[in-house]
Amino acid sequence: MTIAQALTTDNLTKVEEPAPWWRQASVYQIYPRSFADANGDGLGDLPGITSRADYLGALGIDAVWMSPFYPSELADGGYDVADYRNVDPRLGTLGDFDLLIEALHTRGIRVVVDIVPNHSSDHHVWFQDALADGRGSASRERYIFREGSGPEGSEPPADWESAFGGPAWSRVADGQWYLHSFAEEQPDLNWSHPEVRADFLATLRFWSDRGVDGFRIDVAHMLTKDLTEPFPSKAMLDAMPQDGQHPLIDRDDVHEVYAEWRALFNSYDPPRTAVAEAWVARSRVPLYASPDSLGQAFNFDLLEADFDADQFRTVVRDNLELAAASGSSSTWVLSNHDVVRHATRYGLPHPDRLPDGRPSVKHGSEWVLSGGVSPEFQAADGERRARAATLFMLGLPGSSYLYQGEELGLHEVAEIPDSQRQDPTFFRSGGADSGRDGCRVPMPWAASGSSFGFGPGDAHLPQPEWFSRYSVEVEEGDPDSTLSLYRQALGLRRKLQTAETLEWIETGRNDVLRFRRPNGWEVVTNFGLTAFPLDGARPLLASSSVDGDSLPGSTTAWVMPGT
Ligand code: GLC
Repeated sequence: MTIAQALTTDNLTKVEEPAPWWRQASVYQIYPRSFADANGDGLGDLPGITSRADYLGALGIDAVWMSPFYPSELADGGYDVADYRNVDPRLGTLGDFDLLIEALHTRGIRVVVDIVPNHSSDHHVWFQDALADGRGSASRERYIFREGSGPEGSEPPADWESAFGGPAWSRVADGQWYLHSFAEEQPDLNWSHPEVRADFLATLRFWSDRGVDGFRIDVAHMLTKDLTEPFPSKAMLDAMPQDGQHPLIDRDDVHEVYAEWRALFNSYDPPRTAVAEAWVARSRVPLYASPDSLGQAFNFDLLEADFDADQFRTVVRDNLELAAASGSSSTWVLSNHDVVRHATRYGLPHPDRLPDGRPSVKHGSEWVLSGGVSPEFQAADGERRARAATLFMLGLPGSSYLYQGEELGLHEVAEIPDSQRQDPTFFRSGGADSGRDGCRVPMPWAASGSSFGFGPGDAHLPQPEWFSRYSVEVEEGDPDSTLSLYRQALGLRRKLQTAETLEWIETGRNDVLRFRRPNGWEVVTNFGLTAFPLDGARPLLASSSVDGDSLPGSTTAWVMPGT
């Protein structure tokens, strides 16, 4: 056989293989402490999730991604991990984890877990050892300890800031300082240390052996660091290009770590998957999404876009190009545990929709500053646009990541009293940023009762009265509810999903997008106010009711010409 023939045969075999499951999956993110509380202590737990396995099965998702459920002091909602290979006793046991995996796998749902490698908790045994063993000890080498500057080292080694606000260096009792890119309780690990590298390989193997199908990698772009002294100032760091050589962010050498991880993932059958949370320049995303690295990377562009045809089209075009460049599939996200829920974002003023020209409110958490909901907030409009945006997203090639509660059309909870807030961004900003608690309020399962069915006791974050009408109990009985829409859309998507391409169809309108997938499935979204004629194409599914032949404003329809 010639080389040319061998290659051809190879290619043919590949074409015939079914695409790996993750390429076009719908993945549902669970924030375990706020999903379902089986033991009544106010915190959601693993048996709670297992008790809702039928709900997850009926939703029609392909996989669940669980935010951290590991032992944690909860300085950052569980992203401060004290033991990477265990379950927080408040959330259950490893036995409960095995039961959960079994319940989900039985229903055809894959399981992705969160790995937090940039930092551990300050309660991790390694950090406790580093504190006890003192300066110069081998245990301090696993973290980033340095002497301070200024008289008697009383100033931090550099003026760097943590991502949550405030200084990135904290001092320990013996006078040394350690680096924490996030909260003080999250010391950065030293990724130049072979034990750190080996330990994470052990963690990935531990969960893979337990049946986990994939991993979401927290702040994947920050692990490796060039800590050559003298340290640059914050101003110098900010001015440096993020081109792979920046001392702290998105360094090329982080992919040496992921190449090792990839070899481990590929030693399993089927290979374990990974998705990078990497806030990097768009041109550098393919490095993380490459099959030699993590294999897939989050794209947060939709989450940052307004409900606007032009912006959505640009985001889709750019990200499909990026996915093609890496050989991965694109990801899409409208909501997650770090941002204001999209039903709420889209209910905020938009310059194009305000006749009196009032200014747009910036997306992000700024709008929910202590005063609660903006008076200009339009809840129903927000939900309508959110449903349209979701149906648009679920029609795209690639994988969609959904966040618990968005299937109910849940809004951000703005009215959490300061005394009950938990997020370090609230505390470290001195209350200037209300933080991310508003999207982490426990799920309403029932229309009434203690914590709306979340558990037998109170919930760890207060649920507002209006949660009742968004409860699963209410929405399950309503064929027009957001939950019913998600169920239909996810079910239909499984049947319609086709090759990973799309073709734009000219609509003659700036505020209407339409695209066709290779099997003829079309997605039409009217971002505007004026109805758009469908010219005989009958909707299979629409995000709001369609009157006769025309698609109303803020609505998406899936159509199959000739049906
Ligand atoms: C990621 C997580 C966020 C967490 C941070 C630090 O951005 O999504 O919730 O606070 O990493 O671990």
